[in-house]
Amino acid sequence: MADKQKIGFIGLGKMGLPMSRNLVKAGYPVAVWNRTAAKAKEVEGAAAAGSIRELVQGSQVVISMIADDQVLRSVSAQVLEAAGRGLIYVDMSTVSPKVSAEVAEACEAKGLEYLRAPVSGSTALAAAGTLTVLCSGPKAAYRSCEPVFLSLGQKSFHVGPRDEARYLKLTLNMMVGLTSAMTAEALAFSEKGGLDWDTTLEIVANSVVASPLIGYKMNLLKERNFTPAFTAGQIAKDFDLALETGRAMDLPLPLTSLVRQFYGVMKAQGQGDLDFFGLLTLWEAMGGIKK
Ligand SMILES: NC(=O)c1ccc[n+]([C@@H]2O[C@H](COP(=O)([O-])OP(=O)(O)OC[C@H]3O[C@@H](n4cnc5c(N)ncnc54)[C@H](OP(=O)(O)O)[C@@H]3O)[C@@H](O)[C@H]2O)c1
Repeated sequence: MADKQKIGFIGLGKMGLPMSRNLVKAGYPVAVWNRTAAKAKEVEGAAAAGSIRELVQGSQVVISMIADDQVLRSVSAQVLEAAGRGLIYVDMSTVSPKVSAEVAEACEAKGLEYLRAPVSGSTALAAAGTLTVLCSGPKAAYRSCEPVFLSLGQKSFHVGPRDEARYLKLTLNMMVGLTSAMTAEALAFSEKGGLDWDTTLEIVANSVVASPLIGYKMNLLKERNFTPAFTAGQIAKDFDLALETGRAMDLPLPLTSLVRQFYGVMKAQGQGDLDFFGLLTLWEAMGGIKK
């Protein structure tokens, strides 16, 4: 236990809660802080810090898993204010390369090591400790945190010295979000054609287009249970980050732009908190398919 870094964990949402539990399970001394303080009790074996300052001052590595750019700006400012030189700050959220680069600059000015370590995989993989960690930032800091990452995930990659991991995470989420739209359109077609729902899903899941993502979503689609692992609102946020980043690079992203509109429809219709595979219901409604 003595050689394990003291970890401060900020953000006990759908992802942060199981991730912080896995760090405790792996034997790390963990302190946690969450905006809604009551959630700290749900991480058995972790100390609840009264503030970000208190959390940072007792930690060697501070990890955040929080909602978005705006929260990263505010949380990282509080971490920086409380931190001494040599602290490693790791943000594992999905945020823009632009805001992440601002955080990098502020960390560098203060002599802190900053790792960008977004994750691939949703809540079930977070609970099972089988996420994939995509990390960029200083290599030596990465090496010292690799065992921490391997307590959260099965695989961990170092992909560059700066914000490369932010681009990589958005690359994956564009493909993930487009897969839901592609699946919704094709499945609505099969329904309107009169095919049996369960049989169609079984065949799709075993076909050439099957992917781990489609596999994870099979039961949700079979049962039409859109309890979120990852919400339509969250993928809309990631598409916005990709579109802004694409604009800044002069890279057209026509498919992402179109499908973003449909996630916007889900939000406008009060379905932004459903799983993003709930797009299916929009295609069914457009096609006059009664459920
Ligand atoms: N869910 C997934 O499948 C998944 C997979 C990979 C990556 N991600 C990314 O991981 C991050 C976290 O996702 P999640 O699903 O865990 O989200 P979530 O369940 O919505 O949790 C968000 C966390 O951010 C905190 N937060 C929100 N606003 C805050 C503020 N103003 N100040 C301080 N804390 C604030 C929340 O605190 P409260 O508890 O007080 O609300 C909560 O701890 C996001 O960037 C998401 O895109 C999610």
